[in-house]
Amino acid sequence: MCGIVGYVGQRDALDVVVEALRRMEYRGYDSAGVAILDGNGHTTVEKKAGRLENLDKQIAAVGRDTLVGHTGMGHTRWATHGQPTDRNAHPHVSTDGKLAVVHNGIIENYAPLRAELEAGGIEFSSDTDTETAVHLVEREYERGPYAGDFVASAYAALRRLEGAFTLVFTHSDHPDTIVAARRSTPLVVGVGEGEMFVSSDVTAFIEHTRNAVELGQDQVVVITADTYTITDFDGTASDGKPFHIDWDLAAAEKGGFDFFMEKEIAEQPEALASTLSGHLENGRIVLDEQRLTDQDLRDVDKVFVVACGTAYNAGLLAKYAIEHWVRIPVEVELASEFRYRDPVLDRSTLVVAISQSGETADTLEAVRHAKEQNARVLAICNTNGAQIPRESDAVLYTHAGPEIGVASTKCFLAQIAAAYLVGLALAQARGTKYADEVAREFDAMEQMSAVIADVLTTMDPVRELARDLAKADTVLFIGRHVGYPVALEGALKLKELAYIHAEGFAAGELKHGPIALIEDGLPVIVVMPSREGRAVLHSKMVSNIREIQARGARTIVIAEADDEGAAAVADHLIVIPKTPTLLQPLVTTVPLQIFAATVAATRGYDVDKPRNLAKSVTVE
Ligand code: F6R
Repeated sequence: MCGIVGYVGQRDALDVVVEALRRMEYRGYDSAGVAILDGNGHTTVEKKAGRLENLDKQIAAVGRDTLVGHTGMGHTRWATHGQPTDRNAHPHVSTDGKLAVVHNGIIENYAPLRAELEAGGIEFSSDTDTETAVHLVEREYERGPYAGDFVASAYAALRRLEGAFTLVFTHSDHPDTIVAARRSTPLVVGVGEGEMFVSSDVTAFIEHTRNAVELGQDQVVVITADTYTITDFDGTASDGKPFHIDWDLAAAEKGGFDFFMEKEIAEQPEALASTLSGHLENGRIVLDEQRLTDQDLRDVDKVFVVACGTAYNAGLLAKYAIEHWVRIPVEVELASEFRYRDPVLDRSTLVVAISQSGETADTLEAVRHAKEQNARVLAICNTNGAQIPRESDAVLYTHAGPEIGVASTKCFLAQIAAAYLVGLALAQARGTKYADEVAREFDAMEQMSAVIADVLTTMDPVRELARDLAKADTVLFIGRHVGYPVALEGALKLKELAYIHAEGFAAGELKHGPIALIEDGLPVIVVMPSREGRAVLHSKMVSNIREIQARGARTIVIAEADDEGAAAVADHLIVIPKTPTLLQPLVTTVPLQIFAATVAATRGYDVDKPRNLAKSVTVE
């Protein structure tokens, strides 16, 4: 949510910053802006509401020669405070135009700070919380105890701020220096040869350097072209965590696909394989960054899964697997609701927080609440060193690679696999499964990579059907057992990408209300339970299909090969291979992702950047 970048070096800063924004645009696309320091005491800002292409046009109109310099910053915005207008776009500047700031997050005490600054005669030129930060630094720089000292003035201002924020400051009279700080939202440093970057995300600088340093909570970094210095907010020296970015640039590029989402759907076999890789050692499941002992896992008598959106749907699937394998109760809760309803947690509760970004504010706050209540927290995350894994007792990384399409696809499958690994680790520790059973379940999961790869080659009929149904106003999705979370996920994908009213239901619930929605021609996508694995549910689903068809529904049924029962009733049949029941979602999800992406593209929407959304949601 908001992508920010700062650069000091030898290159043309505008090129570096705009390219970084292009790579980070998935973090927000309500507006974009740049500030370039010319090295002679002047900062030029260009910013524009809407997509980055609007800023590109504006830069072309004013002329790139007005934005020449080797130091700069940029921002791509997902609006929180203030409408997505030119005026509210970042960077924001001080009254004399010398200080500039970009910001991700929310400054919670901005209202009293703004009142204080306005009382001191400062006039604001936007409605944002961000502008308070730049005026605070300005006031310190002009008349604080560190007047004239840019870095010390920035520290003094930072100490006044509350909330969750990453901030990057520049000053025209100090063009060799950038100050950046973080609290609860991400900030990484990219360390190049004679050049330095700060950004929300490594994608911003991956084409220039693979050497990065992750900043911790409440840390400040001061960069020049050759140095970076990390401290806490009081200026006490502190350490970052250096790391090497091991995925290559191609992972952050479309590679011949029309959309990142299409590429990421195609990458699912690999995402699954990489997530599982190395987690079965000598017949035992091993987790990453394991800070929980086997005894801790043995002591677990209840699991809560907390997550949002697609990650929540992965959590729903975890419940089926963990309860089945471990025989302990699992509750799955929307992270945004969890801490507000006083959940019963104690030392023997394991809270599994699932988050692709590791930044989602709702999930982060749920983690903090769980820790306050003494529960143990295990994070499932796709982003190395993000805040949620940092604050958790144990971590299991999904190795899906960068997911740039705003709608989650490959991370969903990787999250399911990771959550199942947690189930197997618990089953192993608590002795509810023998070692050979654990190994068999693991092998079955590993084999799913090849199965998904095959499924991906058979999706043309799904695309055709999607084009045919692209004008639908409403599409319903129904499933039973593990097909139910898949139905929810299918509906979520369609509504967020194609802006179509889509709802997922447990098929058994239809007759308790939703069946009233069925009318002539209404498309209903049915995730069919396995005939062999769930025979009772299979025959109930056949009855459900008949019930809705009798009321006019047009049924699209996703069923296993040789499912004659489904073939006999379906208006349209999508055939998938037979799999073990708990693993079926890894396959049935694929046609639903392709369906949603194709409907959206047919309707002319940007599949990678659906309206009103951003990839990581760092506000509650
Ligand atoms: C939907 C989607 C979102 C995210 C949700 C949680 O396609 O991507 O629903 O799943 O915002 O995000 P993370 O996993 O980053 O916590």
